[in-house]
Amino acid sequence: MFQTNAIDSADKTSFYRELAEQAASLFHDEPDAIANAANLSALLFEQMPGLNWAGFYFLKSPDELVVGPFQGKPACVRIKVGKGVCGSAVARKQSILVEDVDAFPGHIACDSASRSELVVPLIKDGAVLGVIDLDSPNLARFDAADQAGIEAIAKLYVEACNPA
Ligand code: SME
Repeated sequence: MFQTNAIDSADKTSFYRELAEQAASLFHDEPDAIANAANLSALLFEQMPGLNWAGFYFLKSPDELVVGPFQGKPACVRIKVGKGVCGSAVARKQSILVEDVDAFPGHIACDSASRSELVVPLIKDGAVLGVIDLDSPNLARFDAADQAGIEAIAKLYVEACNPA
């Protein structure tokens, strides 16, 4: 059984250090991309306060993302590269932090409760494999420390897995 001890979220630096340690132990000796994505979604959703959706979209063809493992309400299945926050992060090969989804042109509303969003691309050898997407019902839930913390965990995920 994998124990996910609750992490104190007051200090984001130590929060993300401990979250990365828990993610690394989930991935230990496990290269399956879907299994690790499923467990990482569960870990993020359980440990990060104030989320209503946490999960993956994978780039299944050069121009389209398809939803992968996640926690939260059922979501849009396919997102074109360049569309929404997720497709824009793929096109830019960069994380996108959205403090207010209503202020992001083309934001795709899968859950009408979402108010802010963080999308981090999964990049292996310069190629985008997909994204991790986090949604919150709170405005400005995510800041630069969250972005850096999730980028570090995305790197651990990519290093651990064979492509999905
Ligand atoms: N809001 C995302 C769509 C995915 S859902 O949030 C799960 C976007 O604009 O790409």
